[in-house]
Amino acid sequence: MATKQTYVQVKGLKKHYGDGDARLTVLDGIDTSINRGEICVMLGPSGSGKSTFLNLIGGLEDADGGSIMVDGCDLTVLKPTDLGKYRRRELGFVFQFYNLVPDLTIKENIEVTAHLSKNPLNVDDLLRSLGLYEHRNKFPRQVSGGQQQRCAIGRALVKNPGLLLCDEPTGALDYKTSKEILQLMEDVNRTYGCTIIIVTHNAAIARMANRVLRLRDGRIVEDELNESPVAAAELDW
Ligand SMILES: Nc1ncnc2c1ncn2[C@@H]1O[C@H](COP(=O)(O)OP(=O)(O)OP(=O)(O)O)[C@@H](O)[C@H]1O
Ligand SMILES: [Mg+2]
Repeated sequence: MATKQTYVQVKGLKKHYGDGDARLTVLDGIDTSINRGEICVMLGPSGSGKSTFLNLIGGLEDADGGSIMVDGCDLTVLKPTDLGKYRRRELGFVFQFYNLVPDLTIKENIEVTAHLSKNPLNVDDLLRSLGLYEHRNKFPRQVSGGQQQRCAIGRALVKNPGLLLCDEPTGALDYKTSKEILQLMEDVNRTYGCTIIIVTHNAAIARMANRVLRLRDGRIVEDELNESPVAAAELDW
């Protein structure tokens, strides 16, 4: 097996919201590193800072301190235009609440981001593996929540991103659909070698991860390698 190469390296990462009496420290000095091609699952109670962490790695919010290296490049010192380039080229982001464009069809929602990539996946093939091909010409309001979530995942995957960030990707889905979505992520990870960070409340999902991070009150309280990850199909909860 190839030697492991650090892909994301976070050092002393800090973030607060508000000032004075309302000041709230959300990330209180996070240190971790994630290797290229790993599936990393981040667990932690509500309010512990998981989404904030993901937003910082995704360059959607600014840090107050520390550094975030992705593929050797420190996001915290990038100019806005370079940060935009990073988001467009390197990153797939699956939001907790889909954020699909209501006036575009399922296929168009995916095509929009395919155009941002130098080496996008084939849109029709992806629609088929997402089980969305028959629904491709419908609008988001005409499909189920699970199908909207698949579309949101398709939109992130079609770029063939180096880094895929997923905030509660199965939070609103039933058991069967959740497992299908996780299997899809596993497939993409194996086929294209993208690095994946999944934030979830579901501790069972941690069994499919190479690395498990546990956050509490803005600090990492567990950072463990899982030597024998379980296939997504074998997960149970
Ligand atoms: N824009 C903001 N302004 C002020 N406070 C915020 C903001 N965003 C998040 N917070 C606060 O920061 C803390 C961490 O929020 P975050 O969304 O990162 O938690 P989380 O771990 O993702 O929680 P959940 O599991 O409920 O999604 C919370 O106390 C939240 O209220
Ligand atoms: Mg959250």
